Amino acid sequence: DLFGEPYRPQIHFSPKLHWTNDPNGMVYYKGVYHLFFQHYPAGTVWGPMHWGHATSKDLVHWQEQPIALYPDSLGYIFSGSAVADVNNTSGFGKDGKPPLVAIFTHHDPKGEKEKSDKFQNQSLAYSLDDGKAWTKYEGNPVLRNPGITDFRDPKVMWYEAGKKWIMTLATKDRITFYSSPNLKEWNLESEFGKDLGAHGGVWECPDLFPLSLNGKQYWILIVSINPGGPNGGSATQYFVGDFDGKNFRPRDTTVRWIDYGPDDYAGITWSNTGSRKIFLGWMSNWIYANEVPTEKWRNAMTIPRELSLKKEGQNILVASTPVKELGVITTGKSVSLSKLDIGKGDLSDKTGSLPGQFELKITGKLLKDFSLELSDVNGEKLKIGFDSKVNAYYIDRVNSGQTDFNKEFAARHTAARLTAGKAFDLTLIVDRASVELFADNGLTVMSSIFFSKQPFTKLSATAEESLLVDELRITPLKSIWK
Ligand code: FRU
Repeated sequence: DLFGEPYRPQIHFSPKLHWTNDPNGMVYYKGVYHLFFQHYPAGTVWGPMHWGHATSKDLVHWQEQPIALYPDSLGYIFSGSAVADVNNTSGFGKDGKPPLVAIFTHHDPKGEKEKSDKFQNQSLAYSLDDGKAWTKYEGNPVLRNPGITDFRDPKVMWYEAGKKWIMTLATKDRITFYSSPNLKEWNLESEFGKDLGAHGGVWECPDLFPLSLNGKQYWILIVSINPGGPNGGSATQYFVGDFDGKNFRPRDTTVRWIDYGPDDYAGITWSNTGSRKIFLGWMSNWIYANEVPTEKWRNAMTIPRELSLKKEGQNILVASTPVKELGVITTGKSVSLSKLDIGKGDLSDKTGSLPGQFELKITGKLLKDFSLELSDVNGEKLKIGFDSKVNAYYIDRVNSGQTDFNKEFAARHTAARLTAGKAFDLTLIVDRASVELFADNGLTVMSSIFFSKQPFTKLSATAEESLLVDELRITPLKSIWK
């Protein structure tokens, strides 16, 4: 029963079978969202990497497609991006048809074994049938390694002001920017980040794009790091600043995270979506990604999230919210409780048995500590709340079910609240084996996976003084596979 297995995500993309890690090559073209993904089609652990492929017309329902890129004599196909080369700068286009071009890292396992420092190089593949079939460029690699062991994960964008392509590349402990007129020849522009940001691990999977706030444009640089995340293992930091076609300059030196939870890594945005920026990450963590207790497939992606900027005091912060397209799977049968004054209590008489997958939204006034508990018939539970002593939201999966596959899995993770007001809002997207928390209009985000034997059916809430809830709404979400 594909997609009906224990722990199978019902509203998130996961491959039918076998292993996935990073999302790759995300490009929107002719009404279709392409999602490629790091894939090992012969096993449920990391192995020789391919680019798997899935497509969607609504960012919610996904159709898996044939594998797009296979390893070859230059190596495995590591992470990268894809662009619509509408002006045919690359010359790959034919008969007026522009190419889609994928820019990825060729990782040569032989070179790695021989301890060469040049085993990661950037290469191209193109498609002339809107993303179905892919041909590797015979001139690969197009950007050769100058002698940096970690030299990978190219994210390419068209920089209109300079009429050139910009490649943002993860180069060990920093980002290196390159530019190109044609995607084939690359010139070094600058480096960023050696002495800035979090450095608990190697830098990977960057992204660079503009976002506007009140008519002013800012540039966002996203950088994943592994390990060194705020709750351990892999996580994704971001910088807000300026980019002039050569240098990126951050506005300040504070370390900030796209998602403070343990399970959102290597996320990047879709290209060719205009000013709208849609982000999606890999919903796992390198600490235990190879060990999570699923049998036929391993790991899934987050919900696509729309990114925007918000001003908090002097700071410009990135906020994430689930894409509005999720509305296509709401059933209209939501339960809404209003003007609740929560002391302590089982809310299940009011909410009924929780649906399989749902969105839970609370708006109200944050006075002291509060927590929500999702639990199942066996008493396995997930605790989600706010801890006023440390001014942080948390997700506690210590007693959430199966946790013994890795000793670091059972933990309580926290994320600072980034706004001061008493009014708060919290949205949870709960799937069979994951919860994504978006607090304060998406300023604080946390994603966490879990493995309860049974789905959580019961909701209870506890508040230290009282939690004044204007509304608590539970909206069932239909499985995307049925
Ligand atoms: C990040 C990463 C990338 C690399 C890929 C290999 O999770 O390590 O840096 O390209 O995974 O699968």
